[in-house]
Amino acid sequence: MRTFTALSVFLACQLALAIEMPPYDLVNSAETYEERVYPARKWATTSHLSISHHEATSNIMFGKLFNYIDGHNDAGIKIDMTAPVTTLVIPGEGPNCENNFTMSFYVPAAHQDNPPTPTNPDLYIEERPELHVFSRRFHGFASDEDWIVNAAQLHDDLVAAGEEGVDYQTYYTVGYDSPFVIIGRNNEVWFMKNDMN
Ligand SMILES: *[C@@H]1O[C@H](CO)[C@@H](O)[C@H](O)[C@H]1NC(C)=O
Repeated sequence: MRTFTALSVFLACQLALAIEMPPYDLVNSAETYEERVYPARKWATTSHLSISHHEATSNIMFGKLFNYIDGHNDAGIKIDMTAPVTTLVIPGEGPNCENNFTMSFYVPAAHQDNPPTPTNPDLYIEERPELHVFSRRFHGFASDEDWIVNAAQLHDDLVAAGEEGVDYQTYYTVGYDSPFVIIGRNNEVWFMKNDMN
């Protein structure tokens, strides 16, 4: 009974929050993945070299980005949290073969035209161009291994489906929930499609 009450409160809170997300066009919905196009938008961004996805993303970069929206910016204002949090992974790019992780928070629509400048020099406002992606969704707390297993599965599914022009050298890990959410967590891995212009 008590568990049920706690769960009801929890779900109600989740629904009430209605976190803002970047717009996208759904190009195709396949059995195990979606193809989407995200229009050009600004994101608050920081990078970190590390062997471990978990180490880089869970504290270091998330903390810096969270401080930015919590008022560590030249306007001294609080900015609403958005979802998802995206992390571009460039495997083995560091001098000692560390992975290069680049984590970003989507800048809410209200601040897109004129986002406050981060006071921390490790952060910058990224003018992200239109992004064409293939996305695979999975659930639960994602470990370093979960990200790799799901990226490999998405790769295999895209190859089997004959999708062309996909960049398999880098990928995005994408999280939709704060670290406090324990039920129904949503994660995605994205590969980028190179659009031939
Ligand atoms: C990591 O990748 C980001 C995004 O491509 C880039 O801006 C940054 O310079 C890279 N960092 C290093 C140390 O290579």
